Amino acid sequence: MFLTNPHPASFLQRRVPALLKPIVELESEAAGTAHVADFANARACRVRGLGSALLRSAQSSCRKRGMSLLVASGNDAAKGFYSRFGYQETARRLYLDAKFRVTGKDWVVKTKD
Ligand SMILES: CC(C)(COP(=O)(O)OP(=O)(O)OC[C@H]1O[C@@H](n2cnc3c(N)ncnc32)[C@H](O)[C@@H]1OP(=O)(O)O)[C@@H](O)C(=O)NCCC(=O)NCCS
Repeated sequence: MFLTNPHPASFLQRRVPALLKPIVELESEAAGTAHVADFANARACRVRGLGSALLRSAQSSCRKRGMSLLVASGNDAAKGFYSRFGYQETARRLYLDAKFRVTGKDWVVKTKD
């Protein structure tokens, strides 16, 4: 897990690869928050409470800023996990594959005060 700052909308004025534009747009919806990125546990270590402990720790150190993260709409396990922590959908954009095909999924930005 990394804690970062969401890319601001102004970042889109740079040469952002088209595939990443929806992600940068979504991040800019959560400007000012502490952004959780690349949140994953080794498979053998999942569902043992480590992810919850890590997220709680990040939240307590960033409480004043609010939190945000991105999740794929098809990732039901992660969506359930974040919902239990009180994260709510703020916006979504199409999730395209590497050949720019529509996948039927969206990228969703979730935030928590
Ligand atoms: C999401 C993730 C980081 C959570 O870490 P974790 O260590 O498994 O989390 P916890 O053990 O604290 O689980 C907390 C709760 O979520 C549930 N849960 C987490 N991952 C789950 C999964 N893959 N399937 C079913 N339930 C899951 C647990 O059952 C637990 O529920 P409970 O509190 O009601 O008992 C981890 O499952 C993971 O690495 N997933 C794959 C990568 C991923 O999808 N990351 C999110 C990208 S946005």
